[in-house]
Amino acid sequence: MLNLLYFSRALSCEGVFYVNDMRTVEWDDQHQQLRLIDQRNLPGDFAILSYGDHHSVAEAIRTMVVRGAPAIGATAAFGLALAAYELDVRDVEKFRNHLHAAAQTLLASRPTAVNLGWALARMRPLVDAPAQTVDEIRARLIEEARRIAEEDVATNQRMAGWGASLIDDGDTLIHHCNTGSLAAVDWGTALGAVRMAHEQGKHVHVLVDETRPRLQGMRLTAWELDQYHIPYEIISDGAAGSFLRSGRVQKVFFGADRVAANGDVVNKIGTYMLALAAHANRVPVVCVFPTSTIDLSLANGDLVPIEEREADEVLDIQVKGRPAAPAGARACNPAFDVTPWSLLSALVTEKGVLYPPFEKGLAQTLKK
Ligand code: MRU
Repeated sequence: MLNLLYFSRALSCEGVFYVNDMRTVEWDDQHQQLRLIDQRNLPGDFAILSYGDHHSVAEAIRTMVVRGAPAIGATAAFGLALAAYELDVRDVEKFRNHLHAAAQTLLASRPTAVNLGWALARMRPLVDAPAQTVDEIRARLIEEARRIAEEDVATNQRMAGWGASLIDDGDTLIHHCNTGSLAAVDWGTALGAVRMAHEQGKHVHVLVDETRPRLQGMRLTAWELDQYHIPYEIISDGAAGSFLRSGRVQKVFFGADRVAANGDVVNKIGTYMLALAAHANRVPVVCVFPTSTIDLSLANGDLVPIEEREADEVLDIQVKGRPAAPAGARACNPAFDVTPWSLLSALVTEKGVLYPPFEKGLAQTLKK
């Protein structure tokens, strides 16, 4: 259930909310609720939504109140912790069955980002470990969800350091989708690296592609860059190739929702076209992601389930107050695509930088 909609902490100086005023995903200990920044209407409307049960958390993930691979992983973990407060029983087995069903519901909310399954897989042994009372299991779950959230921030900061080492003073970068604080508990992935480079005093200019159809680039990345005082210009997705050919761009940066064993990257739709254009113009392509995004169980990116979202996301554009598409137009809307590893120049995790070929390096990185 959505319990509360409020704007109070949204007001910081000058009545404007800053992304650093709150984490994207936060546990409210006092009310035992999960608080999420509602990303659907940013930057125009800022709202924080509170959640008290796992069904509404799964719906928040599905409808993209919260989005970005690490953010939905942490959210799912808190969703499972919330499920532990839903049932007032003493029977431990009955309680466990409820939690396993809740984990399934959360897992089904979005299929592509592996961080969701990764976070739930971390929680599962705590459900099944020996326990005398249901309270013991409850305490373990909330503790682990909090640990996942805290680790996310520390991981992202480490990763940002490695990513920043690949950015030179004076670079112009093309960035795809939103990979910043909003895509994680805090800091994010590729945009975290850009932010770190900026904080190190490097002059960085970002060409923010709009990221059709949901405009995570234009709406969310531009909003974050404003707050970090990093100069940027928004470009239409189709303009990227021309900028890459012009010689004005030194690197392309993006994140990942799942990285297969061979280094193929599954990320927001449009990543593949961007990487192709960069590769054709010899512009380095850097993908930044935490090790929780690596899925060694899948040999290559073609095995990753690609989410298909509603056609309305593509069609719902108005020109002068009228629908841009003809009445009855159909659309298809794959939310992610596969970028083959051979188009990538470097993969950055919290454990360091990998160069192609990636297969051995990814396996070793997970063992470290
Ligand atoms: O559909 P979204 O907005 O959840 O997709 C997000 C992305 O594709 C990001 O680029 C990805 O999660 C990596 S950055 C955290």
